[in-house]
Amino acid sequence: MDKYRFTYNDIHRTVRSLAERIGQSGYQADVIVAIGSGGYIPARILRTFIDKPILTVGVAYYDANNKPSKMPRKVQWIEEAERILQGQRILLVDEVDDSRATLEYCVRELLSHRPSSIAVAVLHNKLKHKKGSMPAEVALYLAGRDLEDKWICYPWDAEDIDDHDRQAGGEGI
Ligand code: G4P
Ligand code: MG
Repeated sequence: MDKYRFTYNDIHRTVRSLAERIGQSGYQADVIVAIGSGGYIPARILRTFIDKPILTVGVAYYDANNKPSKMPRKVQWIEEAERILQGQRILLVDEVDDSRATLEYCVRELLSHRPSSIAVAVLHNKLKHKKGSMPAEVALYLAGRDLEDKWICYPWDAEDIDDHDRQAGGEGI
């Protein structure tokens, strides 16, 4: 198997188990922050289990001329972030923890808005050397599943969802 392939149902089940583990941890979020675009659908599913408002942020590794850059940069951020996030318990959601660079960048930017706490939940964590690191302020880090360092095919990237589902065996393999 050179790739992982997950169906929407696989994702839904993973999010439910993540939500259960967040509940067991005792972390009570006030607000969900989704990192776009991969974090949008997982965040929406999570809201079925953790009914909190969803805010979104967008970051990219490309500059205005579509050239790759060294650092992520904001392409969209929360309006009046200071007023909205100060003193709040944030639950940051993304689909995959790959290099961790985007996650670290987002956590640091969100911390600058002085939330009372921040927790991170990702669907999938790739077991590999990470370029970024999780800041010590992160109260809780949870991954739905730890995976080998292989490409993950998400259902929302499929142009033919029926073919995607056919190719995805049980458990995304
Ligand atoms: P990280 O901090 O979450 O590890 O993110 P990193 O900067 O390493 O990831 C760069 C981009 O590559 C991210 O998308 C991430 O979602 C995507 N990515 C990494 N591994 C995989 C994979 O196995 N499968 C898929 N489908 N995507 C992967 P992005 O540039 O932020 O774009 P978006 O797709 O989230 O909009
Ligand atoms: Mg992403």
